[in-house]
Amino acid sequence: MLDVMKIREDFPVLSKKVYDGKPLVWLDSAATSQKPRRVIQALVDYYEGYNANVHRGVHALSMESTERYEDARAKVAGFINAESPESLIWTRNTTEAINVVANSWGEDNIKPGDEIVVTALEHHSNLVPWQQVARKRGAKVRILPLTDDHTLDMDAAESIIGPRTRLLAATQVSNSIGTIVPVKELAKKARAVGAAVLIDGAQSVPHMPVDVQDIDCDFLAFSGHKMLGPTGIGGLYVKRDVLERMNPFLTGGEMVLAVSYEDATWNELPMRFEAGTPNIADAIGLGAAVDYLQDLGMENVRDHEIALTKYALDAFKELEEELDVHGPKDTVMRGGIVSFHHPDVHPHDLGTVLDRQGIAIRTGHHCAMPMVQSLGVAATARASMYLYNTEEEVDMLVDALKEALRYFRV
Ligand code: ALA
Repeated sequence: MLDVMKIREDFPVLSKKVYDGKPLVWLDSAATSQKPRRVIQALVDYYEGYNANVHRGVHALSMESTERYEDARAKVAGFINAESPESLIWTRNTTEAINVVANSWGEDNIKPGDEIVVTALEHHSNLVPWQQVARKRGAKVRILPLTDDHTLDMDAAESIIGPRTRLLAATQVSNSIGTIVPVKELAKKARAVGAAVLIDGAQSVPHMPVDVQDIDCDFLAFSGHKMLGPTGIGGLYVKRDVLERMNPFLTGGEMVLAVSYEDATWNELPMRFEAGTPNIADAIGLGAAVDYLQDLGMENVRDHEIALTKYALDAFKELEEELDVHGPKDTVMRGGIVSFHHPDVHPHDLGTVLDRQGIAIRTGHHCAMPMVQSLGVAATARASMYLYNTEEEVDMLVDALKEALRYFRV
């Protein structure tokens, strides 16, 4: 079990007061998580103590920064159980990671007539790159639908994933309504027809144990800033044999071994995919975030979120006549995301009133326009929880919503 009150002391911003001294209630961790002191200190230590470019210098600082930077890679690779640190490419975020796959593997492997299968839940970052590849390569994007309970329709998956499927690209947890996708089962279906598998782990890697070897995926993309790490750093796991056959997407410095005026040869893995000076400080910061998460234990993080989500769904029952709450009813099938809307009050208005009470939620289409529109609305209000949230904060949200609805007289 997590000692949440003790955890909260590690996050300086959580004691912030907003407006007239209202305590900040951070329920927007699906957009970005807050950072513990250990991560902030890792950044300060880097800039104050050993700032230097990596893989280049013969001097002490460069050797120190290279060692700590590669050590962070090993930690993050171990966190998702990658076979080796070389299977982890640093990227800016999930979106960039998926674009690397689309522009490298996708361009080389998707052929006319192929099908790229995604779920109806996808964030734009795991949909738009595939629409682009499909357009360029004469392939087709197919969508796995949901059941009435907003879980993935596995019967439909059985008929959609077939001999034409070249890639299955699926989110593990929906950022808009919280649905958990049984990615291991889907990956097995995709493998059976010879397709490659990409998992969008942006909302799963921060919140639950994720094991790339157990899922048996070729690619896993995730963002550091949603898992207590800094912004501007993320990861792309690629299965070793797939990575060895991939061509680099960006070219230039750092990713080359030898260059003449006519030609160039590529550096070792994974540097071959990391052109230019990398985001050294933030990679080290992400390593510190992983240390923090591992000390807590990802099973404990997940258990806390299941319990808190159950508490929230029960608390929202008080508002069931006013609000539609989206996503599966079973908390085992959902992450810590509660997405809702009122038929007569725009989510932005609800969000603004909650904000004046110190409660931060996200409103809008959550970069998943087709998914949110399939609910019959243009936007929802979304509360997203993490390891530092409490039942009291959920109560504050529900009380503030009741107050807001009174204010709007609905
Ligand atoms: N993808 C992030 C979210 O869901 C920004 O809010």
